Amino acid sequence: TTKIILDTDPGIDDAMAILFAEASPAIELVGLTTVYGNADIDISTRNALYLKQRFGFQCDVAKGSSQPLQRPPVGASVAVHGENGFGDVAIEAPTISADPRPAHQYIIDTVAASPGEVTLVAVGPLTNLAMALKHAPEITKLVKEVVIMGGAFGTNGHTGNVTPFAEANVHDDPHAADIVFTADWPVTVIGLDVTHEAFFSNDYIDTLRDTCGDVGEFMWDISRFYLDFYKSRMGVDGCFVHDPSAIAYVIDPSLFEMRQGAVRVVCDGPAEGLTLQKYKDTKHKTDDWADFRAQNVAVKVNDQALLDLYLDTI
Ligand code: BDR
Ligand code: CA
Repeated sequence: TTKIILDTDPGIDDAMAILFAEASPAIELVGLTTVYGNADIDISTRNALYLKQRFGFQCDVAKGSSQPLQRPPVGASVAVHGENGFGDVAIEAPTISADPRPAHQYIIDTVAASPGEVTLVAVGPLTNLAMALKHAPEITKLVKEVVIMGGAFGTNGHTGNVTPFAEANVHDDPHAADIVFTADWPVTVIGLDVTHEAFFSNDYIDTLRDTCGDVGEFMWDISRFYLDFYKSRMGVDGCFVHDPSAIAYVIDPSLFEMRQGAVRVVCDGPAEGLTLQKYKDTKHKTDDWADFRAQNVAVKVNDQALLDLYLDTI
């Protein structure tokens, strides 16, 4: 099994990813670290604690950053995830509390306690990971792998969701994303190139409700609002598979085809949040990215196998 810390902004598809990780025998969910994004930090932390308590997770929960490193906050995605981050389904206040440490410190301590064993999976803005790197650069040598849902590299025509050129998690904190992608640790990026190629139809989510007990019913309930957004904004009956795809990669990397090359982020201007990968050894005169480690970017997914894996696991 792979030990993971899941850095998340729950969030409807975040909840789908968290429940997937918890259910998988291939994963040991050690901690949930929270970040602003789909909801503000108090709401995303409350939602992580709610999931832990309701579904009896053994994992820790540590509260993370409330805002990006440098850019002004973009604000919560209430149009997509509702005011409460769970599609405005009323949930009881959890009676358990978070770890006393801030998320970045929790990450540093947990990675140091099990060198080479912990995979960091981030499915929200990358602020906590960037802060962990700033406070303890040596963690680059201690983590097993870093798996990120974020970015969009133009494969299959997918270039952005919040702007024509940017994906939400990277757009929320482009400076943090650039720090994480250029650090000397092994990063795998699961961006819109593949998450927009896997689709949970309404029927598929009905099947989760009908065959997966309490967990399936909860996912069905919170996804009503999300599916309305997809219907009204994109005219589709279902939703793309963002955050669960990062967990699918941890469970079975063979579902994805990867491309190697250094990754950078445009940090300001009209293309703010644009992700770029230099993946071919071209004949250009200079190689200004030569100092950056080649990372793995997902360019293709076996979507049917991913959907089967998700349903079987849940
Ligand atoms: C990402 O943005 C958030 O709204 C989702 O939870 C996902 O992590 C998709 O761009
Ligand atoms: Ca998310």
